[in-house]
Parts: sequence; C-alpha cells; structure tokens
Amino acid sequence: MNHFEYRDGALCAEDVPLDDIAAATGTPFYCYATATLERHYRVFADAFSGVPATVLYSLKSNANLAVVRTFARLGAGADVVSAGELHRAVAAGVPGRRIVFSGVGKSREEMAYALDAGILQFNVESLDEIEALDAVAVSQARRAQVALRINPDVDARTHEKITTGVRANKFGIARDLAGEAAARVAASSALELVGLAVHIGSQLTELAPFEAAFARLAALTRALRAEGHAIERLDLGGGLGIRYRDENPPLPDVYAEMVKRETAGLGCELLLEPGRMIVGNAGVLVTRVLYVKEASERRFVIVDAAMNDLLRPALYDAYHAIEPVREPAPGAAYAPVDVVGPVCETGDTFALDRPLPPVSPGDLLVFRSAGAYGAVMASTYNARPLVPEVLVNGDRFAVVRRRPDFDEMAALESLPDWLADAPARARGAA
Ligand code: LLP
Repeated sequence: MNHFEYRDGALCAEDVPLDDIAAATGTPFYCYATATLERHYRVFADAFSGVPATVLYSLKSNANLAVVRTFARLGAGADVVSAGELHRAVAAGVPGRRIVFSGVGKSREEMAYALDAGILQFNVESLDEIEALDAVAVSQARRAQVALRINPDVDARTHEKITTGVRANKFGIARDLAGEAAARVAASSALELVGLAVHIGSQLTELAPFEAAFARLAALTRALRAEGHAIERLDLGGGLGIRYRDENPPLPDVYAEMVKRETAGLGCELLLEPGRMIVGNAGVLVTRVLYVKEASERRFVIVDAAMNDLLRPALYDAYHAIEPVREPAPGAAYAPVDVVGPVCETGDTFALDRPLPPVSPGDLLVFRSAGAYGAVMASTYNARPLVPEVLVNGDRFAVVRRRPDFDEMAALESLPDWLADAPARARGAA
C-alpha cells in the first residue's frame, strides 16, 4: 500500500498534488510520502514483535537525511556500507549502538571512523578484513564486536546483478572457512565474535531461498557453538522484494513467521536489514514530457528525467510503472510508446512499447516505485544536476535535497596552473 492516489483527477502524494510540488521545485524530482515510509517500517517491525529483533534500515536504498530521520524517530537502527552512510545515519540521529557496518571492502580509514562512532558491530567478509580490523582496533585501543558474514551458497533467484549469496559471488566467507575465521577473531584481544550474518540478494520474491540460507546459518551457529564460540546475534540481511508490476513477494508477517521458525531454539538476537521493502513504493520520480516524436515505426515520449536520475531501467532492465499526473479520461485510448530521456545514449530508455494514454509536451508523468535505489544511484552524467528530493507529510511538503546550481557543481573542480588562461568563471573565480 502507498499514498500516491488520484484525487479530483490529479495524482497526489498524501494530500499534496504533485503539480503543486512541480510548480515549486521544477522537474524532475523525487517525492516521498511519509505515511508510506512509516507504515512500511511499522508493518515490518511489528511482524517481529515477540522476538528480540532490531530493524536496521539499510541506508543504501535511500540515504536522504530526512528519510533516515523519519525511521530513526521510530526507533530504527541502520545498516551502513560506507563511512559516508555512517555519517548520515549518525547525523539523522541513529545511535551508534544501533548501527551495523556491512560491506565487502571497508577501508582501514572507514573502520577507524566506525570505531570512533561506537557502532554495534562489524560484519566482516574475509580473513584479510579480520586482520585489518584487528590492527585498526589495536591501534585505537578499542574493542570491536564482529559478526562473520557467511556466503551460504544459496541462489536467491533474482536479477543476476543483485544476487549475492552463491559461491561465485564476491560476498561473505565461504562456509568451510567459517571455523578458521571464527578462530582468528577469537584469538584477537581487540575483537569479539558475537554473531553471524547473511544477505543473499535483493528483490527476492520467494521465501524458499531465504529459508534455505537461514537454515544453513542456524546449522553453522550450532557448529560454531560446539567449537566454543558464543554466537548470540544473527543478522539476516535484507532482500524482501516489492511489487513493481505483478510480482507477489512474501508479506512481512509471512517472512517473519519463517524467520522465527528457522531460528527457533537458538536464543539469538535477530538483526534485520530491510531497504527496498520499506522505501521502494514510498517514492516516485516526477518528470515532464518535453516532446513527442513519431519515428518510422515507433512513437517516442521524450521526458526531462534520464538514466542518470533513475538508473534501474538502464542497468537492470527494471520495470517502473509510468502514470500521468493528470488522471486519464475514462475510456482514454492507450497506445504503446517508448519513454526515453535526453541523455546521449540509446540505453537512456525507461520503457519500450509501454501502453500510455495520449500525452503532450508539458504533461507530468511519474515513475512509480522509485523510492529505493533511485536518488541514491543518481549521477551527474551529461553535467545534469542531481534532482531534488521532496518529502511530503500530510498536506505539507519540504524540499529535503535541493537542486544544485551549475556553479556549485563545478566548485569541486579547479584548473591547474598551466591552464589558468581560461575565462575567470571556469577558474572558479567569483
Ligand atoms: N543488507 C545488505 C548487506 C545488502 O547488501 C543490501 C542490499 C541490503 C541489506 C538491503 O537489501 P534490500 O532490502 O533493499 O533488498 N541497486 C539494486 C539493489 C542492490 C541491493 C544491494 N544490497 C537495485 O536497484 O535493484
């Protein structure tokens, strides 16, 4: 369920017509509905009531400060994969003791930064990383709690670019190396082994792969305990899919029941790292039609958003529903069009042969389900500014990331001496 609906013929985010926001901010822009963010967080968290579980919102899906703050106020922790995300989590008010640092390639600088922030746990993914974390913790005279991220060798049956749990993927420690990794952590005076972690992929639409992975994690928990290790926490990752088109992913309570079943009797605290399931359908990307062009056999709708703003269709052939902001007249004739952006690549295509009602230059369209892995994956390709993000709450809205101007975009760059004869403006002079 989400809070983007037509009212009196105009698509609204909660109580705010998207037209009004477009008039205030210009297009394109991302728009998030607080009511959906909060509802999805609560539905997920409530499904785990009755067991000791902490929800760590996965910042990689949407790291906007206002979005993270919305969850922090509901008690969420954070799953971060970089010092930048950690900085955002802290700035949004997530306490360090509710932050877990995941990721296959943490640098020593990032480890030091996270130790300073007093985070709950590092999910480590290799023997080399354990050595590095040990050295950093020793040099800072601090102790770090560690979970071993295990590669369970389970196929998540999702898009190949976002599957992470099979042996051939770069993620996690192979199960047959877990004993050695645990012993290495246990031998360190600066590290404390507290748990295991797993994450097999994203946009999973079936329960079975999760179940298989968690069963393997439970078996490994028992095996490591038999070797004398105290495994008290299981981090089960994220990955629960959403409906973009016609998928039927498991509902959070069905997922939670399975988790409870698979972890029953272990007495472990659970950590959960949902991202997409919470924010995906809480956001849309609003764009304006620039031109409609008839070619020999195709009809192109050229919009002002591009692949740099929403990369998922170009990168994963992902489907995002497209709807006009003005409600189509009853009986409007839908005809197939290609929806494309202004970037100079054929890959800058959002949809092929998509049935749309008649649209004209100036009309607004939305790409649905753009709250997760939308704004965070944007770039400035073609020197296009990052698009604004807007947060709606009831009948209010606020621009929570503004559009930079061209001078701000250029301000990080400078010309070397030997090119200093360029016009003053290009040298960064005021
Ligand atoms: N935990 C870990 C360790 C992860 O790697 C991820 C996502 C999550 C949690 C959150 O997963 P979620 O609940 O959002 O599925 N850019 C891709 C998705 C990449 C997911 C990467 N890891 C996309 O646009 O589909």
